Amino acid sequence: MNVNLLDLKPQNNALESELREAFTRVFHSGHFILGPEVDSFEQSLAAFTGAKYALGVSSGTDAILVALMALGIGPGNEVLCPSFTFFATAGCVARVGATPVFVDSCPVCFNLDLRDAERRMTSRTKAILPVHLFGQSADMDGVLNLAWKHNLRVIEDTAQAMGATYRGKQAGTLGDFGTVSFFPTKNLGALGDAGAILTNDSELYARARMLRMHGMEPKYHHALVGGNFRLDALQAAFLSVKLPHFNGYTEARRRNAALYTERLSQLPDVRMSRPEDCCCLQPYAVDDFDRIVLPIAYPFNGHIWNQFTLRVPGFGRRDALRAHLTARGIGTEIYYPIPLHEQACFSHLGYKPEDFPWAHRLAGEVISLPIYPELPVEQIEQVCSAIAEFLKK
Ligand SMILES: Cc1ncc(COP(=O)(O)O)c(C=O)c1O
Repeated sequence: MNVNLLDLKPQNNALESELREAFTRVFHSGHFILGPEVDSFEQSLAAFTGAKYALGVSSGTDAILVALMALGIGPGNEVLCPSFTFFATAGCVARVGATPVFVDSCPVCFNLDLRDAERRMTSRTKAILPVHLFGQSADMDGVLNLAWKHNLRVIEDTAQAMGATYRGKQAGTLGDFGTVSFFPTKNLGALGDAGAILTNDSELYARARMLRMHGMEPKYHHALVGGNFRLDALQAAFLSVKLPHFNGYTEARRRNAALYTERLSQLPDVRMSRPEDCCCLQPYAVDDFDRIVLPIAYPFNGHIWNQFTLRVPGFGRRDALRAHLTARGIGTEIYYPIPLHEQACFSHLGYKPEDFPWAHRLAGEVISLPIYPELPVEQIEQVCSAIAEFLKK
């Protein structure tokens, strides 16, 4: 039987009648952009995350863009962000005219290496943009200490980690802004593009809200240059149907991660990622050319497992594993095959591949396995058996 990397149908089909009701309600209201559906979803999202304010926007990308604009970040400013992330993180920094300054990543949690961040700080550094990659929070005490020490603004790219926690607090609510994506593959997925911004600061919230609608307040008066970053009422209505189920989705993802860990850790050539390999303890010193490395959640983190990502060290081995799984009908993905400091559009920044040894190495080693909440247990067993078979080759 084929194992899909992701199948959105079981989750959405289970809610079909409620989603249709939401559609009918919006259809008959004639109110399709912002309005009461968006207001109501924003209130639920603020209550869920504990953020003082939540603002619905058009996508996770636009959420980052609006956050940067609201903080007045632009030409002449530098923003620290990981190289090993989805393009939007740094793309938005460049789009506001600022310079992304890349930072290496930790091989254990895949998040920002804060010692490297501090090394790359200059007098132009205005903000730090940690990403809570794959559903696990970055070291937010470290980020906030660094920000406090160097007077930086903090935007948490929470696209993959809404609902994750750091020492009991919700990811995305600790910096100046948290930015969320509801792209359909995210743990809370809309039926199209959608995103949100979280903040506890009333002034920043007011600015972001104005920027969402061309910087307009009141009507046809533009104190700021914003854009059209509005959320559709339909997506807000769909998200309101799905949000009450979010904790159930997270539990199911955690169960799936635990089962993978239990099964795969028994294989002879597989080991768990070791906390002592964290970048904060020994940068670039990990020697792992023989075994597949399983992801871990730090005990102080509530991981929501947007991805279950293995490291497969050894030249060409990751690609060989992927080909082996593909041949058996098992879907996988490489998040991300090219680190951002090696992207053509950033070549003018003058980075060399080896400037970020872990980002470069992770791009060649990572592979993400199916982990969506409704993934049948037998299919997880099938994936584990296929990996066991690969290791015997
Ligand atoms: C880390 C990260 N940042 C930003 C985004 C952008 O979100 P969206 O696709 O909703 O624009 C994504 C989406 O995949 C992401 O993974």
